Amino acid sequence: MMNEFREKGLSKEEISHRLQAFRKRDVPWRDGRVFSYVYHAGDDVEEVAKMAYNEYLSENGLDVTAFPSLMEMENQIMGMCRWLLRGDAHVSGSFTSGGTESLLLAAKTARDYAQHKHPHIAQPEVIMAETIHSSLFKACNYFQLKPILVPAREDHKVYAEDMAKYITPNTILLAASAPSYAYGVYDDIEEIGKLAAEHQLLFHVDACIGGFIGSLNRLNGWQQPDFDFSVPGITSISMDLHKYGYTPKGASVLLYKTEEIRRHQYYVCNEWTGYTVVNPTMLSSKSGGPIAAAWAVMNYLGLDRYKSMARETMHAVETLKNGIENIKGLTLIGSQLTSLICFTSSRINIYDLADELKTRKWVVNLQFSHSRVPANIHMSVTYQHIHKVSEFLYDLEESVKQVSKRVLPKLMDMATLKTANAMAGNMSADMMAQFAPMLGIKDGQLPDKMAVINQLLNDLPKEMSKELLLRFMGDLYAAHAPKS
Ligand SMILES: Cc1ncc(COP(=O)(O)O)c(C=O)c1O
Repeated sequence: MMNEFREKGLSKEEISHRLQAFRKRDVPWRDGRVFSYVYHAGDDVEEVAKMAYNEYLSENGLDVTAFPSLMEMENQIMGMCRWLLRGDAHVSGSFTSGGTESLLLAAKTARDYAQHKHPHIAQPEVIMAETIHSSLFKACNYFQLKPILVPAREDHKVYAEDMAKYITPNTILLAASAPSYAYGVYDDIEEIGKLAAEHQLLFHVDACIGGFIGSLNRLNGWQQPDFDFSVPGITSISMDLHKYGYTPKGASVLLYKTEEIRRHQYYVCNEWTGYTVVNPTMLSSKSGGPIAAAWAVMNYLGLDRYKSMARETMHAVETLKNGIENIKGLTLIGSQLTSLICFTSSRINIYDLADELKTRKWVVNLQFSHSRVPANIHMSVTYQHIHKVSEFLYDLEESVKQVSKRVLPKLMDMATLKTANAMAGNMSADMMAQFAPMLGIKDGQLPDKMAVINQLLNDLPKEMSKELLLRFMGDLYAAHAPKS
């Protein structure tokens, strides 16, 4: 086999040059035209984060006895988060690599807690809002828990009354969002808390979005539902720092009501031949960078600046929502008292609209239809967007007009779609591979216009679209030698 490893290393300048070159096809988030992925509070904040990250780049969070400084910073971060979430002195938790790890751990802790308390449960069940983030679905998949989905009502909110119907002797955890990512709606947290307490069940609130901005809104005097440890019955809360805490990625927090529950998150291994492993979270060796940077950003911004950033962000959200509502053909979905915006249209093709916005250099998230909610566009509005509101609304209105005029491409899209649907029932892997070029996928690269693909993914049977996505991902990740 050909040697795929470079014999002689490149210079520092060349490395830097190549890194810049790699970036060319990435979304241009620095312009404030991307409504997801990156939470940017300003160049000064980024500078502080980089300084702290670099300072702790090589330190290892594996062993607190070797790096007590990382534990100290983590404990201080926990203290700040606990205060935001109105937890008492018993509340404590861990710093994790992101919302996904926080949710994975919340589920794993519930499983192990149940094994300890109710060893007779053979198939543990998690009763969760159908609108909860996918990472809890993933947790159920990883840890062999049975997900029981509770449908949201017309207002996209999941209610305690509905959850109650699903409780069985196998239930180990209730879970809901504050707010849900997709529609930006707080579930019925207070009542679900009562339900959990009544049945002596664990109750996890996913506040990966709301933990920061929701708490700041409360401190800013907003009237909104309570979702933190002030609500009786909540036993754990996940809260991302790398979202509305504006810290670099790899930063989330999972807090527990009591130490009795938290201890089931920890993992100890002294059976193997090496050093004794005591892992509070999933990873073992981990860079001190994310912890140091989170500590630095939180201390640099301070509560005052966080509060004013939240105020300005929510002002931008309100203006955006009013503007969207005033554009003929668009309808808002959910998005109550949160920084997330979701809208759809019954008049124009929403996939086309996302493409049209892309040609105007705006990046929004498409969300596929789900039960009675049609396919829609999601935007996570952050502090970076506050000066982009009128420009976005102008382009959105223009894009809607443009898309309304397009008839021919839509007909063509429908034809492709019909073919796909007809083939879907018995399509083999090879047939699917042949199908890719029809959709404009060439050499593992997606076309600029994604409307047809998105419509197809939305309309295909779920198992079929899963298979397509898996194959596509498999083709994308293909090892090759460095380009010389
Ligand atoms: C409500 C909610 N929970 C969990 C997550 C997962 O977080 P991460 O992407 O940091 O793993 C997200 C991400 O958007 C989220 O919005």
